[in-house]
Amino acid sequence: MTERLAIDRGWKFHLGHASDMAKDFEYGGGDPASNTKTGDAVGAVSVDFDDREWRSVELPHDWAVELDFDEKADPYHGYKPLGRQFPETSIGWYRTELIIPREDEGRRLFLEFDGIFRDSIIWLNGHYLGRHLSGYTSFRFDITDYTDYGKRNVVVVRVDASHFEGWFYEGAGIYRHAWLVKSDPLHISPGGIFVRSDVKDVAGKQDAEIAVQAKIVNENDDNTGCEIEFTVLDDSGSIVAEASSKEVKVPAWETCTVTDTIEINSPKLWSVEEPNLYRLVTKIKSGSRVVDTIKLNFGVRTIRFDVQNGFTLNSKSFKLKGVCCHQDAAGVGSAEPDRMWEYRIKKLQEMGCNAYRCAHNPPAPELLDACDRMGMLVMDETRIMGSSQEAMDQLESLILRDRNHPSIIIWALGNEEHFIQGSDIGARIITSMKRLVRRLDPTRPVTTAMNGDWGSAFSLINDVQGCNYIACGDVDKFHADNPEQPVVASETASSFATRGIYQEQEKRGYTAAYGTTVPEWGTTAEKMWKYWDSRPFVAGVFVWTGLDYRGEALPYNWPCVNSNFGIMDICGFPKDNYYYYQSWWTNKTVLHIFPHWNWEAKKGEVIDVQCFSNCDEVELFLNGESLGKQRMQHNSHLAWKVTYEPGLLQAKGYHGGREAAITKVETTGKAAKIKLNPNRLNIQADGRDVVQVDIAILDDQERLVPTADNKINLRVSGKARIIGVGNGDPSAHDPEKSDTCRAFNGLCQVIIQSAQESGDSVLTVEAPGLDAASVTIYM
Ligand code: GAL
Repeated sequence: MTERLAIDRGWKFHLGHASDMAKDFEYGGGDPASNTKTGDAVGAVSVDFDDREWRSVELPHDWAVELDFDEKADPYHGYKPLGRQFPETSIGWYRTELIIPREDEGRRLFLEFDGIFRDSIIWLNGHYLGRHLSGYTSFRFDITDYTDYGKRNVVVVRVDASHFEGWFYEGAGIYRHAWLVKSDPLHISPGGIFVRSDVKDVAGKQDAEIAVQAKIVNENDDNTGCEIEFTVLDDSGSIVAEASSKEVKVPAWETCTVTDTIEINSPKLWSVEEPNLYRLVTKIKSGSRVVDTIKLNFGVRTIRFDVQNGFTLNSKSFKLKGVCCHQDAAGVGSAEPDRMWEYRIKKLQEMGCNAYRCAHNPPAPELLDACDRMGMLVMDETRIMGSSQEAMDQLESLILRDRNHPSIIIWALGNEEHFIQGSDIGARIITSMKRLVRRLDPTRPVTTAMNGDWGSAFSLINDVQGCNYIACGDVDKFHADNPEQPVVASETASSFATRGIYQEQEKRGYTAAYGTTVPEWGTTAEKMWKYWDSRPFVAGVFVWTGLDYRGEALPYNWPCVNSNFGIMDICGFPKDNYYYYQSWWTNKTVLHIFPHWNWEAKKGEVIDVQCFSNCDEVELFLNGESLGKQRMQHNSHLAWKVTYEPGLLQAKGYHGGREAAITKVETTGKAAKIKLNPNRLNIQADGRDVVQVDIAILDDQERLVPTADNKINLRVSGKARIIGVGNGDPSAHDPEKSDTCRAFNGLCQVIIQSAQESGDSVLTVEAPGLDAASVTIYM
């Protein structure tokens, strides 16, 4: 049976050097140069290299997030000293030891990596196994022949992050999980299971036909016979359907693909509201032995893009209310613990978001698992657009790894490829890519996110036309010329906002959260949503972006180091625009006014007060006096010019003339106390699980002090530990691996990870002059 053992623990890490061999642990050295003879290893690659001085790390690990910011570094990559001009911080070495018992002799062994940024070379016991360039695809090496059974086996990984792949923060290192996989010589090929469902409506009753496919590899020297059993379980673990194949003979060192169909009567469909999952258990039996079992989740659902209805899931048509996101987060960079994906998906869903574009690269597998479980639709995207061997290998690995996720509704083959999107070369490339996708997954459409040339080259091959930005073309003309082709706004908006800031502050790198500053290709949230929402042939939108991310430090660059495009900041704290989307993307009553009301220096000056709400009417009051009631137009906002005086600014929202909501902002007193808001209290004692604790600075009447920037000390008792801090300040240069942090406009966040031992831990948060707070985390 295949075992997949995490090898996240017990790694040693050291920075190397991209140009100085001595500082790069003799890499490339030796006499004659190592590499000339198999197994000849020098420096850190040698089995006996003494790595006791190296730092202990656990995976996932991103060394970029640990580096200081440097104004000379690339703004697009968040001013972290990575790249060819930073040879001393762009190479990372990892070493670990695996004890592989004698009993494993005869099995096939593999090392698997879910993602390393980037250009990694892997050795086992001094033997060169190979190189993997992509910073985003998952990959594996067969280590069977290189293993020292019954002894220690030394894995060495050299990571070279001195070349970038994107124009955004990408991290550096083994930033996803790593695995030791042990299989019988007869096993299921990685990515070899494919399950798809077709739902039939027969006389008002639905039945699903599940087509299953398993690719089996025989790494025995003899032809081997086997039977395949497919079992479908529901979410309670009960068997709902089964099928088994006749005996098949898999020739020695060949593969064989077995297909079958299984009926599920009245299936529980997978949807955004009810993400019902089934589990497919695939067993290979050879003689009386079960030699492999693979369990994976899938969903029964149908998807369709068409010009009449836009997007349809099962039989329901609705607009995709999506966001694009990069993968990094506060405190941890690209090395996100699995649990953190849930946090971001939940916050997005609370805003009314139902779709997530993995911009612009293959995501962590655990993000897709979270989307499956939570009912978030996904546009999954490859990194390199191309039909060269390398680009096609990346695409193939993405599709094989991800095609069973019910959340994925469309593949994106490229983004803003303005050198080729309108050319013959481009048309040929996308044709080849689409051919590959169709072969591996005929169930989902493909798109490319185009920032021009709509109607030519790529457009002719796209199943769904991906339009980036209103300013990039005329979508009505496109629709008139191509009346049969569905359209999605694959990327849109790009409005800037810094949480809690209401004036442009170029020198500090902050931009006002009114969200009206936009780059030349962008628009405000409101113009954007009105535009796409009013066109029924458009399946929906993917707003740039759900959360801030490191790099693309626009609009002002240094000292700013993060993007300001997020609807939320990098910690996941909502900016004001969050409530614009929530007003028009959900059915709950929303009433939000801004800015805050602490403007001591602005007495008598006029302040632009705005309101996001889906109430029919909103009335604003300053210190009890009405400033007028206004009618809300669909998909709009309201605004008042208010002469500032301290006190209470209050809004009342009305539905059909009746008061439906009330909200306020108030001039607060000075910072007096700390309040903690953990997103969960019980975490698993597995050394992986995390809790994100939001820290708020309040005045003595429990009101958030919206300008507070107190420096805070954090202490954790027990076995849990702090793995990162953040505050959403796009210009923050403070260390993120720290037990201190600073509030930014009243808020900051700490991420705490469990240990492998159970027992409670107490987080205590203190700051000079403030009442401290603490919370117990149970493990
Ligand atoms: C788009 C691009 C995104 C991001 C965005 C910023 O053109 O596709 O990756 O750079 O602009 O507005």
